[in-house]
Amino acid sequence: MASVPFDQLDGYIWMNGEFVKWADAKVHVLTHGLHYASSVFEGERAYGGEIFKLNEHTERLHESARLLGFTIPYSVETLNRACIDLLARQGFEDAYVRPIAWRGSEMMGVSAQSNRINVAIAIWQWPSYFDPAQKLKGIRLDIAEFRRPDPRTAPSRSKAAGLYMICTLSKHAAEDKGYSDALMLDWRGQVAEATGANVFFVKDGKLHTPTPDCFLDGITRRTVIGLARDRGIEVIERAILPEEMAGFDECFLTGTAAEVTPVSEIGPYKFTVGSVGTALMNDYNNAVRPKQAIAAE
Ligand SMILES: Cc1ncc(COP(=O)(O)O)c(C=O)c1O
Repeated sequence: MASVPFDQLDGYIWMNGEFVKWADAKVHVLTHGLHYASSVFEGERAYGGEIFKLNEHTERLHESARLLGFTIPYSVETLNRACIDLLARQGFEDAYVRPIAWRGSEMMGVSAQSNRINVAIAIWQWPSYFDPAQKLKGIRLDIAEFRRPDPRTAPSRSKAAGLYMICTLSKHAAEDKGYSDALMLDWRGQVAEATGANVFFVKDGKLHTPTPDCFLDGITRRTVIGLARDRGIEVIERAILPEEMAGFDECFLTGTAAEVTPVSEIGPYKFTVGSVGTALMNDYNNAVRPKQAIAAE
């Protein structure tokens, strides 16, 4: 499937209330979302035919749009139902779900007060975000040149397409140097997140993770914090300086696409793939597939 371009996959896309053939789900070149990044999206995963935390994702999509100054013209319930119906129509058990909302092409220019708000949902099979062999050994991250912006500069709690410009630049630069991804610092120089996932560190059996005050407080991040606390692991959310990475034992990323991914290196800092990260990776796998986890007991 890697060789098939995304605009040529099979099936249907839900677009503005209807299921349209994959190849027909098009936008005009004068779409405001394309020119001015007036677009918000979600990334969700289905496991065994069920979309994990679907309602939380759809609520975040609505909130992301509100932060960008527009209202999604479909209720959370309607979009949840559309995701569930599309998953069944695509016939997938395990899949990636991508809802997106954007300002249309009725007006051109920075101001787009009366542009239609469009919504689409696409679902495809996306098994592993990072190379599975690399994931077992722990992936290698570079430290990005660009930083996550001050929340007074951009609405950082919105999963807004515009905020991903920094992520794509950083990820491409890291890949060009042979790394899998990049760790971004924030505008103050503190550790922030990877280009599509949050970051955790382990020291003396405790978890340390940056306070999400200028980047996405990921749904996977919150899930993993809950799983850690269920195990009696202390979780410390705080400002983390890059130099502190020298003293951490383990590191892992969390995200819907990345799931729980061990990290072996960030720039000059090295980590082991250890027992805490591995236990939480297994707990997360059980949480997303509750039926399978119960059957294995
Ligand atoms: C930049 C960024 N940070 C964090 C996350 C993790 O968010 P979530 O766990 O809700 O997928 C993502 C993934 O969507 C992301 O793209």
